[in-house]
Amino acid sequence: MLKRELKENIYWMGAIDWDRRLFDSLIPLPDGTTYNAYLVEGSEKTALLDTVDPPMADAWAALLEGIPKLDFIVSHHAEQDHSGSIPLVLRKFPEAKVVVSPKAKPMLIDLLKIPESAFVTMADGATLSLGDKTLRFLHTPWVHWPETMVTYLEEDRILFSCDFFGSHIATADLYVNDEGRVYEAAKRYFAEIMMPFRNVIEKNLEKLAPYDIQMIAPSHGQIHDRPEWIMNAYREWVSGPPRNLVVLPFVSMHGSTRQMVDYLASALIGKGVRVELFNLPVTDIGKLAMALVDAATVVVGTPTVLAGPHPLAAYATFLANALRPRVQFLSIIGSYGWGGKTVETLAGMIPNLKVEVLEPILAKGLVSQSHIEALERMADTIARKHKEKGFV
Ligand code: FEO
Repeated sequence: MLKRELKENIYWMGAIDWDRRLFDSLIPLPDGTTYNAYLVEGSEKTALLDTVDPPMADAWAALLEGIPKLDFIVSHHAEQDHSGSIPLVLRKFPEAKVVVSPKAKPMLIDLLKIPESAFVTMADGATLSLGDKTLRFLHTPWVHWPETMVTYLEEDRILFSCDFFGSHIATADLYVNDEGRVYEAAKRYFAEIMMPFRNVIEKNLEKLAPYDIQMIAPSHGQIHDRPEWIMNAYREWVSGPPRNLVVLPFVSMHGSTRQMVDYLASALIGKGVRVELFNLPVTDIGKLAMALVDAATVVVGTPTVLAGPHPLAAYATFLANALRPRVQFLSIIGSYGWGGKTVETLAGMIPNLKVEVLEPILAKGLVSQSHIEALERMADTIARKHKEKGFV
């Protein structure tokens, strides 16, 4: 691993995890990730901003050998992919103080058993002088935990944003050089961990507005040297209206539910509504989460199995409820053999979603003409409601 200069006396010194394919035992990482730590050397003091995930720590520790003195370790976020190697750094630099938000201190004591005496807490907006460089700490809750803060390096106008504005991409490129690729990865990341906290994130964006930010250095993925681009993307994801889009997560056992999903999708497309289908047994849930950022309507397709929804449909519904997308309409379609409580079970799983539920359509056995007509009416209803709301 290399220490790489961003600006004079400011360095990236993170780790690239080319192999990782799953985060939190839940989130797919098709392109790996990076854990970006940064070193800021002031004329009087030196600060390390974040560390790396513990599995990368042994190789990363060699970079610490090149640091003669460390005064501060800034921990923006207590999750272990950034904080987990703080104990290792403290063993090498026992005099260094761990700089955190007040909420992060008890979390790091619990998570990493760091002694209480090692901490310095920073109020929202407080500054820390390194001599000719000044770190200003801004509390930015829920990007991605409640304790999270960011650092604005005043003289160099760099925002060190931790998870905020980050993306899971393993790359040797320090700066964003393919905005399309990074947009998709950043949107996936937003969808998977930040979407439920849209309202707070909107306030965080407002909080950053007065600052002249010339560079955003997140703790995952590449550095933004055109920060307005990613900030505008976030504004759209948190504040914009949903799109004229129906997301159809579905699972089919013997083909009837699939037939209904395909018919509904075709009818919607014919009426000018965009659709995205997710066949759940083969779906990357990150892709589904990304589609939910934009969807105005979700229609879950499921057969009835063991008297309820297929477990994969229940999983997708649970996930949608947890992610709290800005969806406005929801329905259920599918088939059953003899009976069950599929609709009641799924309807009981979405207390977080403030949606209008459209009349479900369940076929007993094979799909018949009456079901086709009902699906056509559902497509009409969705297209009309999207139009009335002005979704494009
Ligand atoms: Fe990259 Fe929430 O940790």
